[in-house]
Formats: sequence, C-alpha cells, structure tokens
Amino acid sequence: MFGALRSPRNILFGRGQRLALGGYVAKLGARALVVTDARMAADAQFAAVIDTIRAAGVAVTLYDGVEAELPAECIEAGVVAGRAASADVIVGIGGGSCIDAAKVIALLLTHGGAMSDYYGEFKIPGPLLPVVAVPTTAGTGSEVTPVAVVADPDRAVKVGIASPYLIPDTAICDPELTLTCPPGLTAASGADALVHAIEAFTNAPRDGDAAITLEHVFVGKNALTDQHARTAIASIGQSLVRAVDQGDDLVARTDVMLGSMLAGLAFGSAGTSICHAVQYPVGALTHTAHGLGVALMLPYALQFNRHHVTAEIATVGRLMSLVTGNSDDEAAADATIEGITKLLGAVGIPATLAEIGIAAKDLPWIAEQALGANRLIKNNPRPVDRAGMDQLVAAAFSGDRQSLSSPNQPDARAS
Ligand SMILES: NC(=O)c1ccc[n+]([C@@H]2O[C@H](COP(=O)([O-])OP(=O)(O)OC[C@H]3O[C@@H](n4cnc5c(N)ncnc54)[C@H](O)[C@@H]3O)[C@@H](O)[C@H]2O)c1
Ligand SMILES: [Fe+2]
Repeated sequence: MFGALRSPRNILFGRGQRLALGGYVAKLGARALVVTDARMAADAQFAAVIDTIRAAGVAVTLYDGVEAELPAECIEAGVVAGRAASADVIVGIGGGSCIDAAKVIALLLTHGGAMSDYYGEFKIPGPLLPVVAVPTTAGTGSEVTPVAVVADPDRAVKVGIASPYLIPDTAICDPELTLTCPPGLTAASGADALVHAIEAFTNAPRDGDAAITLEHVFVGKNALTDQHARTAIASIGQSLVRAVDQGDDLVARTDVMLGSMLAGLAFGSAGTSICHAVQYPVGALTHTAHGLGVALMLPYALQFNRHHVTAEIATVGRLMSLVTGNSDDEAAADATIEGITKLLGAVGIPATLAEIGIAAKDLPWIAEQALGANRLIKNNPRPVDRAGMDQLVAAAFSGDRQSLSSPNQPDARAS
C-alpha cells in the first residue's frame, strides 16, 4: 500500500466558522492583505468577516481587483498593494479565482520574479507568506490544494503553478458563505468538485518508490487520497441536485462544500486528468466556466476509461447510489456512466462541446493542446495517444459517447 497526502496546517469546517478568521490571521501576522473581487467587497457578510481581523488587532488592506480568469494585470496590482502595505499575511476570500489570486500574490511578494518563472511543478524555491483561504463557492478546493491556475497574456491556454508551498496555511470552510451562489454557479462549481473526486479516484496508481513525492506534486491514486475521494463522491452525489434546486438548503450546501474540500485534498495529491486537460483549450476558445467545461467532459472520459477502471467506476456509482441491486461491476460501471450523465443534465451542464460553441475545425487544436498538458495526461488510467485524444474530443463534440466503447477500440481491455 502507498499513501501520500499534503494539506494545510489547519482546516476548519462548519457553519459560523468564518468568524474564527481574525483569530487565525492574528497568529500569522500583523498586516493582512485581503484578496477578493468587487462583488464580494460590496457584501455585508464579507464586511462582518473582515471585522474579525481588525478586532484581533491586525491591520487590514483590502485588494478587491480580482477578475475572472485571473489576467496577469490583476495579480500584479495585488502584488503592488501587498508591497505597499508591507503585508505579512495574505487572506483570500471568494471563489477559486480569489483564492488562486491570493496564493500567487503571496508567491510573488515572497520570491519576486514573474509568474512565468514558476509555471509547472516544484519551481517555487521555499515557503511563502502564509495564506488563509476562505472559499465562498463549493467547487475548486483551492483552499487546500498545491496549485493555482492563471492566464498568461503570451499563452493561448491557462497555465498551472503547482508546488506544495502553495497550500494555504489555514482553510476556513463555512457553508453559509455559499448560500448566495446562484444555481448556475452552484452547478458548475459543484460539478468541478465531483470531477476532482472522480478523477482522483480513477487515476492511475503509481509505484510508491521513495522518490515519487519528491519528484511529482501529483502522485496518482493512492490509499490516503482514496479516503477523501470516496467521501467527496458520496457527499456531492447525495446533495448536488438539491443544492442547485433549493439554494437555501443548508444541509445540501454543507454536503457539497464538504465534498469540494475533501475532493481538493484528494486531487491535490493524486492529481486530475483528461477532463481538466481538455478544458484548458476549450476554456480558452469559449470562456465557459471551468467547472462547466470539466463536467461536460466527465461522461466521455469515464466511457473512454471504462474498461481500464471498471471496478473503480462501479464503486463511484455505488457511492452515488446510481447502481441498483447487486449488479456486477460491468453492469454497475455502465449504470454509473448513465447516472452521472443524467445528473449533470439535471443541473444544467451542457451535453456536448458543440453546445458551448466549439466548431469541428477547432477539434485538432483542442486535442493537440490537451495532449500537451502532460502533468494531467500522465495520470489517466488508459494511456492517451493522439488517436485516442482525437476520438475523445470528437465524441464530446458530437455527443456520441457510445463511439468510445466499441469493442473494436484498439486500446480497450487490451492494455
Ligand atoms: N487552485 C485549484 O486547485 C483550482 C481547482 C479548480 C479550479 N480552479 C480555478 O478556480 C476558478 C473557478 O473558481 P470558482 O468556480 O470558484 O468561480 P470564480 O472564483 O471564478 O467565481 C465566479 C463568480 O462567482 C462569484 N461568486 C463567488 N462566490 C459567490 C457567492 N457566495 N455568491 C454569489 N456569487 C459568488 C464571483 O464573484 C464570480 O463572479 C478558475 O479560475 C479555475 O481555473 C482552481
Ligand atoms: Fe477543476
């Protein structure tokens, strides 16, 4: 058995926990830079949370310039604000964009240089100014993960910075903060979390030699990440539809937020895979929400991997109560893919790449760019070559999921 798990020093979870923020920030510094967006900065609940920092005797500088997709300028402006304030602790409050921005601002305040110096894995030379992360969406898991995703003006697709030093010191997850998320955001971010958990659980395991965690940030499916992935899959499966349909249901909101945080712990060490690899170029072309793009790919990715991880897919379906009776793994895996397809449709995730504006002429570029994301592709349980990637994106474009399960597929069952 091999296990590897990296996580924040503190994780707080539950309604009302946001009011512990000031006490945790005061343990870490005397001058806080709070990183958020304009919507959040205008929110009364946000003001009450920030007041806990001032009440704990910490000076607060507010930077509310975070923008969707994280263009480089909004990171640079945050670094300028942090430097001017001599910030010694960074607080990220908001969706994944705000938390990722806080992580990258802490990185540049600590080590200087340009964002591009740190693209890829293990490029950060040492610890950062401490980050306290307070998510207001239930989705990305960024509050516990070693990664931040940014837009680079010189590159067509978003890029990742992955390093254990990016993991926040403290994550404070308060499901009451997600009550204001509208249905579309709840669906896209919750589906992102489901994809994180399922990709972490179905990724290829690696040999756990002693160098693996020193050489890779994402080390594949393992005994410790599986624990969190299982709970996340069950928790999100049970409550995502209710959280979308009845946004004031705090029990459902709590389940989905627990699932998103645990999915973050799972994929933060195990890694994600082909749904995320395809979403980067698709997102660049369509500017669709990250969660919507990865969720759209999930049924196709599961079908593509169906014969390589039959037992794992069957387990996903049992955890989500999508499998009836005592079906064997083969039947259960098929029922799981059907059930997940229906669930994603029920929360409004589009079914095909064509529906979100991709044209047939874009498919070769998407396949090429997706294959280039080797840190993600290497995790997939079925080896992915160009022909396989072409099949995957063609099926997701046309909606012909069954084309991925033909017994004539050269890769199916054989490898
Ligand atoms: N670092 C990671 O581990 C990781 C993982 C997955 C995705 N991401 C990144 O996270 C980003 C997506 O994050 P997201 O899905 O949380 O969305 P987001 O942060 O982009 O926010 C989307 C919108 O929702 C609004 N919003 C946030 N909280 C709200 C609330 N409680 N009520 C009403 N509106 C609210 C925001 O103001 C914004 O307008 C992408 O940039 C993606 O690349 C990062
Ligand atoms: Fe994601």
